[in-house]
Amino acid sequence: MPQNLCTCGSPLLVRYDLEQVAAGASRSDLARRPPDLWRYRELLPVLDPANVVGLGETMTPILALPEYGRRIGLPGLITKDESALPTGSFKARGAAVGVSKARELGIDRIALPTNGNAGAAWATYAARARIECLVVMPEDAPKLTRMECALAGARLFTVDGRIADAGRMVRQAVDKGWFDVSTLKEPYRIEGKKTMGLELVEQLGWRVPEVIVYPTGGGVGLIGIHKAIGELLALGWITGKMPRLVAVQAQGCAPIVKAFESGAETAEPWPPEQAHTIAFGINVGSALGDFLILRALRESGGTAIAVPDAQIAAEQARCAAVDGVLMCPEGAATLVAVLRLREQGWLAGDEEVLVLNTGSALKYESAAVVAEPLRLRQDERLPPSATEPAPGGRTRWGTTEVPG
Ligand SMILES: Cc1ncc(COP(=O)(O)O)c(C=O)c1O
Repeated sequence: MPQNLCTCGSPLLVRYDLEQVAAGASRSDLARRPPDLWRYRELLPVLDPANVVGLGETMTPILALPEYGRRIGLPGLITKDESALPTGSFKARGAAVGVSKARELGIDRIALPTNGNAGAAWATYAARARIECLVVMPEDAPKLTRMECALAGARLFTVDGRIADAGRMVRQAVDKGWFDVSTLKEPYRIEGKKTMGLELVEQLGWRVPEVIVYPTGGGVGLIGIHKAIGELLALGWITGKMPRLVAVQAQGCAPIVKAFESGAETAEPWPPEQAHTIAFGINVGSALGDFLILRALRESGGTAIAVPDAQIAAEQARCAAVDGVLMCPEGAATLVAVLRLREQGWLAGDEEVLVLNTGSALKYESAAVVAEPLRLRQDERLPPSATEPAPGGRTRWGTTEVPG
């Protein structure tokens, strides 16, 4: 009988026999495998490869942000850009592993609340696995994620509330026999997200950056990266210490930051009527894994920081304009965090800092900085200023300039 939580109500985490893993696989074995998350199969819970549900979970690039980093006094700034994954966000990792394991366990109906991206990913992988999927999301979640759920044939509902309200709707389906795959209510989504951590270590040549900065909602990615690096250290595949982990939240919804600052071990739920941010994926007022997030931050010598929406939008635009990386608002929130932590001296100028861009900017119509182009009639000519050199070098022409 598939189980959701521990009998004490806490999340279940998968443990592997790491001695057996070390005896059966090595770093060089991995290097010969296809460049997708299944290359880490010994550290994943799917036992029979026949159960793997794949849509091309490619390894995502680590990109330098040279100009952005230079401008904020952090030349070692890099990003792992998750936008290339199926459905345009890192949620594909959790869904690929979660749906594969659901298939292995013979589960044929799954249900989840979502802020958009997870619903899109799980609906799509469920379609591939021919598993029924019921999704409930807040009405103001990014519209494109609705489209993805609908196209993938999910039973999609919106609710005029927050993700917690969607969670209550999902429980009605769970009472009718649907399997609950909400964040941390099944143990396998985190195993998929963990591959972000495995992958970045391998891509950096089996070493870790000094700091990893993560946009934190339910916190699964952060707990997953912490777990991944812990397993690699235990395996002896890397040496040294855990990077300092940083949880980034929006000022409009920052329960983890508040708890971190007050020294608490768990977080108080954020008042739903006050929860708001353009970084919709991190609009999570209450996280089941709050204590795991807080523990990971403290054990690693990390921190938590809340950032304002206006600056998220500004840094999203600046990064796109100076380095050509179009981050989703959640990803851009990590840029604001890094900027502020550098100003405060928490980050030193010579550190290697990796920020997670958890998804594609293209999924967020509402948050995009929509520049109003000059409209031309068919018989009109470009204005003379259009082709003149821009004063001060490369700027975005028109209504907005590249911010300094
Ligand atoms: C783009 C994006 N980034 C970050 C998050 C937060 O993820 P986590 O639950 O791992 O904290 C979400 C969750 O919806 C998301 O969609």
